[in-house]
Amino acid sequence: MTDKNELAQIGVVGLAVMGSNLARNFARNGNTVAVYNRSPEKTHALIEAHGEEGNFVPSETIEDFVASLERPRKAIIMVKAGKATDAVIDQLAEAMDDGDIIIDGGNALFTDTIRREKDVAARGKHFVGAGISGGEEGALNGPAIMPGGPKESWETLGPILESIAANVDGTPCVTHIGPDGAGHFVKMVHNGIEYADMQVIGEAYQLLRYGAGMEPAEIAEVFREWNSGDLDSYLIEITAEVLAQKDPETGAPLVDIIVDAAGQKGTGRWTAINGLELGVPITGIAESVFARALSSSTAQRRAAQEGQLPAGTIKALDVDKAEFIEDVRRALYAAKLIAYSQGFDEIKAGSEEFGWDVDPRDLATIWRGGCIIRAKFLDRIRAAYDNNADLPALILDPYFKSELEDLIDPWRRVVVAATQLGLPAPVFASSLSYYDSLRAERLPAALIQGQRDFFGAHTFKRTDKPGTFHIEWSGDRSLTQTD
Ligand code: 6PG
Repeated sequence: MTDKNELAQIGVVGLAVMGSNLARNFARNGNTVAVYNRSPEKTHALIEAHGEEGNFVPSETIEDFVASLERPRKAIIMVKAGKATDAVIDQLAEAMDDGDIIIDGGNALFTDTIRREKDVAARGKHFVGAGISGGEEGALNGPAIMPGGPKESWETLGPILESIAANVDGTPCVTHIGPDGAGHFVKMVHNGIEYADMQVIGEAYQLLRYGAGMEPAEIAEVFREWNSGDLDSYLIEITAEVLAQKDPETGAPLVDIIVDAAGQKGTGRWTAINGLELGVPITGIAESVFARALSSSTAQRRAAQEGQLPAGTIKALDVDKAEFIEDVRRALYAAKLIAYSQGFDEIKAGSEEFGWDVDPRDLATIWRGGCIIRAKFLDRIRAAYDNNADLPALILDPYFKSELEDLIDPWRRVVVAATQLGLPAPVFASSLSYYDSLRAERLPAALIQGQRDFFGAHTFKRTDKPGTFHIEWSGDRSLTQTD
């Protein structure tokens, strides 16, 4: 139903699928929703198809859209990240009044959000960068929402966002993450974890397919079973669906018809770049970004196949199939755990770098539902941070440490198996190396410091006394203390 005279509690600009679904979600939950799209056809299509779902107030100009909002006005932008978002922000900031709130619900780069928040604040309005996770289905039925921006905006926005977010055990999957770019930052890391999670699931699939000689439909059943245990999660659930799916045209397993070149809109890449900038070893996330890039380097891959690079692999594993499947399950759980642990490390480092004071418990709470990385073990992650909010690493939580007791041997066996079979397992293997590096008594960094001092006189520290030292490598090789 559309009532032109009624003022709307919330507005949505940008009515592609995500924006339309979000508007429908607001309307279904009792809100009057102002809607606007640059090309009015999309607005008409929304009203025609779903106008009966609640109160919509359509507009064909930004000015009419703003005028149809009750004050303090709240408008969510759901357009392509980048220049399109900047253009709409400028239009809204021009048309709105002091104290009104502009929300960017796209996957914006958090540094853009920091800039935009300053610019819009200087124009007397509030700007909130909100990560919205859950895809099109989540936008319609309950996403996880990660709003940043001023705390006072949250006072106004909180109730209406809680009315549409996913809800787990009576807790809405939305909370104020922190100031300015904090919301988009944690959404970025969410996507990085998503990439690592998807990649290592793919590596597990490859091992069962080509290591255990299983067919996609059989592997789908294995994933369905895994989804009832520690691996209970959205990505495991949909993996079973994708692997069970036959190609409607040929009847072959759909996964065999899909070109094996992964796309990426860029959020995982941002996470990896930011991890490098912050000096946080997000190895699984970075490897998953590289894996997507490599999968799409078709010419080089073809040359490598035609070039017949020596394989040096074994023909088959001499293992019991059921035992191997269980090994892969445990290795997958361990590698997922490392991916989340690294993601939380990056969030902690970002929060310290930008002064946001992000609480990991908030994320473990709101990521339990609605978002792409929702998983049962997020309850455990929340418990871990409830026990100790300053955990030096998630995997050092007593519960997860005890879990790793049971995972470490199969994890090593699976990495060995993948290596012997010549099956790429960048996240399985890099996560294990990360784990071994973290727990190592001594690392080869000592030798690296020696090399750096040899060719660049970059000095080194000693284990037995304070100070900085250098060897006169090109002279008498005596030791000098430089401070
Ligand atoms: C979500 C998803 C979503 C993601 C797209 C495309 O949280 O709902 O992470 O925001 O951006 O699914 O992701 P890629 O193209 O980067 O894989």
